[in-house]
Amino acid sequence: MKFFTALSALAKLGLVHGQGNMVPSSASNNKVDGKPSVQRDIANLTFYTVEFLPKAPILRFESTLVIPASSPDASPDGDVQALWPGLQTDTLLQNVVTNVGGGPHEWYLLPFYCCHPAGKLTAQRRIYPGDLLTNSYIWDMAHNKWLDTWALTPGPEGSKAGLAAFQGGLTFDQTTASKEQSGLVPKPYDQPVLAIELQGHGTWDFGAVTWRNIIMEANTTETDWCTMVTTDNPMKLTTSPPVVRTEGNVTTCYISQMTFESPTDKKGSR
Ligand SMILES: *[C@@H]1O[C@H](CO)[C@@H](O)[C@H](O)[C@H]1NC(C)=O
Ligand SMILES: *[C@@H]1O[C@H](CO)[C@@H](O)[C@H](O)[C@H]1NC(C)=O
Ligand SMILES: *[C@@H]1O[C@H](CO)[C@@H](O)[C@H](O)[C@H]1NC(C)=O
Repeated sequence: MKFFTALSALAKLGLVHGQGNMVPSSASNNKVDGKPSVQRDIANLTFYTVEFLPKAPILRFESTLVIPASSPDASPDGDVQALWPGLQTDTLLQNVVTNVGGGPHEWYLLPFYCCHPAGKLTAQRRIYPGDLLTNSYIWDMAHNKWLDTWALTPGPEGSKAGLAAFQGGLTFDQTTASKEQSGLVPKPYDQPVLAIELQGHGTWDFGAVTWRNIIMEANTTETDWCTMVTTDNPMKLTTSPPVVRTEGNVTTCYISQMTFESPTDKKGSR
């Protein structure tokens, strides 16, 4: 059985390991064995993340992901290897790059939302190592909607495979991801996350993951959330120095490149 990738549940500032979603591939039915997906645990759910915590609404979050090497894993059934830039509070919006849904050594782009319920936002599309994927989330404050756009520029491998540049986008209403929690009014997204997510037998065996041109705007005059880049996860991280600027109530954070080099625990291979 194959699963769409899934996503972290979110509580306060942390990710709740073992309590995310696993969404059946139909994505239309979030119940398995009569239980909502959020009540099922995910085996070996593991994250490597950098999270930014401005504690104020995000107005804009952009980044360009260099699609990493393909996993050498020849039998990905039951694994999830995924990468995503996402925005979270009590819901999550994430343009996921996942190994799920095709054959071995393949990556797919799958915009997704999470977690009560969770599901895909578009059909998934094959993409290739070395492609550049620019993701942008912009808050339409007046309507309380999120404009989620993505643009893919193929690299040499993608071009050789016949992939042409493409872009897409949608308007996202956060309540889509909170319908199963009656009475919850989702807080505007205030937590940009860059993530590697693994489930089941999935390991981080696809090498370094590089994010470029990370731009975040938050409705705050605080700057520490930008300048003190940290991760709690066991990985080697390199980052160029953040550039921060405050104008009026809005602080803009720019990081030209950040690379998740490798895990420093045992998740590098099977
Ligand atoms: C979880 O990871 C362990 C260690 O790699 C592995 O032995 C086990 O089979 C995994 N469980 C599932 C359900 O994939
Ligand atoms: C943005 O910040 C200002 C001042 O700090 C505050 O008055 C305003 O309510 C904030 N707007 C939102 C949407 O959070
Ligand atoms: C900053 O917040 C104040 C108070 O809410 C508001 O009047 C002002 O327009 C805001 N300025 C900017 C640049 O958003």
